[in-house]
Amino acid sequence: LTMEPSEEFLFKHKGFYFHPALVTREYIDSLEDFEIRDSDVFVVTYPKSGTVWTQNILSLIYHEGHRDGTENMEIIDRVPWLEYNIHNMDYVRRPSPRLFASHLPYYLVPRDLKNRRAKVIYVARNPKDVAVSFFHFSNLSVLVETMPDFNIFLERFLAGKVGAGFWLDHITGWSTHRDDFNILFLTYEEMKKDLRGAVLKICKFLGKELNEKELDTVVEKATFDQMKTDPRANYESMKGNFLEPGKGHFLRKGTVGDWKNTMTVAQSERFDNVFKEKMKDLFSTFNWDT
Ligand code: A3P
Repeated sequence: LTMEPSEEFLFKHKGFYFHPALVTREYIDSLEDFEIRDSDVFVVTYPKSGTVWTQNILSLIYHEGHRDGTENMEIIDRVPWLEYNIHNMDYVRRPSPRLFASHLPYYLVPRDLKNRRAKVIYVARNPKDVAVSFFHFSNLSVLVETMPDFNIFLERFLAGKVGAGFWLDHITGWSTHRDDFNILFLTYEEMKKDLRGAVLKICKFLGKELNEKELDTVVEKATFDQMKTDPRANYESMKGNFLEPGKGHFLRKGTVGDWKNTMTVAQSERFDNVFKEKMKDLFSTFNWDT
C-alpha cells in the first residue's frame, strides 16, 4: 500500500478527491451552473463530521408532522447529496425547500450559492475524532480503500490523500470565505453537549419556529440511540453498494474523544505537530475539545 490513493476508489478533480463509483468529472463541472433557490439549504461537512446527523435534524425540522411519508424515506432521499446524486433524482423539479448535503470545498459549489439567501450549515468536528471515524469507515464502506492499520490511514489523512482531501484546507476554505455565504458554523461537539440548543440554533438560522412539542420530537429523534437503530439513518438500503454487510453499522460510537482509544501518544503528537499552529485561527470560529 502506497501513500497514493488507489484510482479505483478516488480520483482527483480540480484539486479535490471524488469517488468514481458515484460521480463523473462532467457532473462536477456542471454543478457550477446549478441553479440555486433562495429557499435551498445545504449541510456541508468534511466526511465523518456529523453529516447524517445534521441531515436528519434538518429533515426533521422541515418535515416532521408536515409531510406524509417522510419518516419512511431514507435520509439520503430527504436530504440528497448534491455532488453524489445517488438515486438520480431530478433536482430541478424537486419542490422547495430543497435540502442538500455536500462535502464540496467552498470553491466548487454552485456559483449562485455565493451572495444569495440560500443557506449553508457547516458542521466541523475535532479532526482527531474525524480521523478515527474515517479509519473505521474505510474498513466498513465498499467505496473507500480498506486500510490495514491506523498508522497508514493517519499518514494519508495528514497528507490530505483521502476523500475530500486535507481536513484543514476544507475547513479553512469555508471559514475564511464565510462572508461570501449565508452560513452557520456548528461543531459536532456542541451538538453532543447540547442537542436541543443546537437544534434551536439551526431553527433560528432557518427562520423556523417549532413549538415545544415539535422541538422535543426533533431532539428525541436525533439522539444517537434513536438513530443507531434506524435503518434509514444507517444506509441499510444501500447495503452492498455502500457498506460491506456484516462489518458494522454506519452509526458507530457517536462520542467525543474516541480518538483517545485509538491513537497512541506518538500518533497524537504527530497529529498536533501538523495541526497545532494552523488550528489557532479556527478556535475563534469553532469550539471543540481537543
Ligand atoms: P463515529 O464513527 O465516531 O461513531 P458522517 O455522517 O459525517 O459520515 O459522520 C459519521 C459520524 O457521526 C459517526 O461517528 C457517527 O456515529 C456519528 N453520528 C451519526 N449520528 C449521530 C448522532 N445522532 N449522535 C452522535 N453521533 C452521530
